[in-house]
Amino acid sequence: MSSKALSTEDIEEITRRVLGSRKYASMELPPETVKDLIRQEIAAGKNPKDVEKAMREKLHQIIAPYLGDPDYAAEEENLLRAAAEGNEAVRNWCLRMLSVHTSSRERIPQMAEFYRAIFERIGTPESILDVACAFNPFAFPWMGLPESTAYHAYDLHTPRVHLINSFFKVYGLEPLAETRDILLNPPETEANTAFFFKEAHRFESRKKGCNRDFWISLPVKTIVVTLPAENLTGQHQMRDRQRNLISKNIDGLGWTFEETEIAGEMIFIIDKHRSALPPELSAQRLEPAEESSD
Ligand SMILES: C[S@@+](CC[C@H](N)C(=O)[O-])C[C@H]1O[C@@H](n2cnc3c(N)ncnc32)[C@H](O)[C@@H]1O
Repeated sequence: MSSKALSTEDIEEITRRVLGSRKYASMELPPETVKDLIRQEIAAGKNPKDVEKAMREKLHQIIAPYLGDPDYAAEEENLLRAAAEGNEAVRNWCLRMLSVHTSSRERIPQMAEFYRAIFERIGTPESILDVACAFNPFAFPWMGLPESTAYHAYDLHTPRVHLINSFFKVYGLEPLAETRDILLNPPETEANTAFFFKEAHRFESRKKGCNRDFWISLPVKTIVVTLPAENLTGQHQMRDRQRNLISKNIDGLGWTFEETEIAGEMIFIIDKHRSALPPELSAQRLEPAEESSD
């Protein structure tokens, strides 16, 4: 790539190359995610020669392959086999899936307690938006919710989304998982609550301060945001920093939040219900991502 400014065609070409690369091809990521990251680097004044490298580094952090992945095709077959064996086998399969990914693995020992602590405070939800869900929907059997729950799950990673929908069908839920970049296209579906687990701090690295507009846009009464109390190696305490992240992003909105912690996961239950915002601002949504003109 030359050092002249990147054209619309250049952005398209980089996007195609990255999405078709050996690392990303099987993930079927939304092209708008890559284009958004490229535009962000351009807007930050990055030298055109360095834009792709910087974008790839950001994308790697967003997709976070280092947190763990199963063999999706093999697990689809294992799920169907487990379904034929019965409920216990499906629950064991779920536990195995939850243990593949760092974020959900850490929660396994206290999963039932974790959800009890949340539902004690917000009541039993009939509908949920699990945004940036990764493998968390496989915890459904430990949530104590009926199969009639409308469980909308969103992730960038398409094989993950397909496996979640296969599990939902096996477990008697509607297959409501979708591939979507929730930052660029927040869900429009109204629900009782949103789960935004272990991702808000990573959103801040993608775009500083973006949580605020994202949370405003979510059409729910409560948002359950969780954040790790320590870093991945366990060497750094992050409690004050995480509380700050929450306070800063809701500052001046008139929302309240309650905090608790289970097994090193800080749980913030943000209540948007008693918003002091004028209705036009409570209903504010982010501009939908442009798709066509690049
Ligand atoms: C750290 S994991 C979150 C784990 C999950 N919420 C949990 O606590 O078990 C990050 C997940 O969010 C997804 N993700 C990151 N940014 C996203 C976005 N903008 N839209 C949708 N999914 C996103 C990634 O693909 C990955 O599966």
